Amino acid sequence: MDITLITGASSGIGQGTAVEVARRGCGVIVTYNARRDRALQTVDQVEQVGGTAVALPLDTGRAETFPDFVAQVRQALAETWDERRLTGLVNNAGFARAALVEDTTEDQLDSLYRVLLKGPYLLTQALLPLVADGGAIVNTTSTAASHRLGLEPGYSAYAAMKGGLVVMTRYLAKELAPRGIRVNSVAPGATRTSLGGDAFTTHPEVIEPLAARTALGRIGESQDVGRVIAFLLSEEAAWVTGQDVEASGGFNL
Ligand SMILES: NC(=O)c1ccc[n+]([C@@H]2O[C@H](COP(=O)([O-])OP(=O)(O)OC[C@H]3O[C@@H](n4cnc5c(N)ncnc54)[C@H](OP(=O)(O)O)[C@@H]3O)[C@@H](O)[C@H]2O)c1
Repeated sequence: MDITLITGASSGIGQGTAVEVARRGCGVIVTYNARRDRALQTVDQVEQVGGTAVALPLDTGRAETFPDFVAQVRQALAETWDERRLTGLVNNAGFARAALVEDTTEDQLDSLYRVLLKGPYLLTQALLPLVADGGAIVNTTSTAASHRLGLEPGYSAYAAMKGGLVVMTRYLAKELAPRGIRVNSVAPGATRTSLGGDAFTTHPEVIEPLAARTALGRIGESQDVGRVIAFLLSEEAAWVTGQDVEASGGFNL
């Protein structure tokens, strides 16, 4: 059976992806950081579409915990599905913090680095022995890293990490190709999630201007992005690797 592990699936894009992957008949291991209750909601949503999910805690900023986490993943695979391998891995967990370059502290820069770049790098490395040959990896990047879309002041640190993840994706695609493992990333545009301290709920006035800059006339929903990630994990995308695929409804077209 196909099993995908999705980090940061207690909310937003990870949660949407878990449901979309389950709809396609895949078992799901979802991870959460602070919100176990929300991860259990993801498990419920997966079960509602006929799937099976297990929720595990993981702070992607704490690489020293990864060996224990890998052991928990092995155990979940064996006990829940009688499997030994993952067919999919989605490095999605993340948070956003905006500050101008002159106001960004070393601690802020380090925490973004640990969660958005070092975490996916070392977690992928730790999980690679469990990823089946012919499997697929998808990393969640961001349109914030794309110069073509116009830059917003305040995202230098966040976007630099996402840009690093785009480059890491390309190298992983090259290095894992001999095992038939495809590696791509998805760059969401503005998507209604709880990112940035639930910014779209606390500042709903930002939605309309973003929708106005989007060709399809609205901001994204988690499911919009989840479907693209599920596609890249699937056999339908068997000829796609090393790509950063924008899922933004045509932002700044
Ligand atoms: N929403 C957008 O507009 C947008 C645009 C471009 C890119 N993205 C990217 O999409 C990804 C998902 O974000 P989202 O928009 O879905 O936001 P979200 O609703 O806030 O979800 C973030 C998820 O990441 C988890 N997480 C946060 N810090 C973590 C840590 N240190 N270790 C492990 N997990 C952690 C959260 O877990 P808990 O809730 O359990 O703490 C949650 O499951 C992020 O990488 C983000 O940068 C989002």
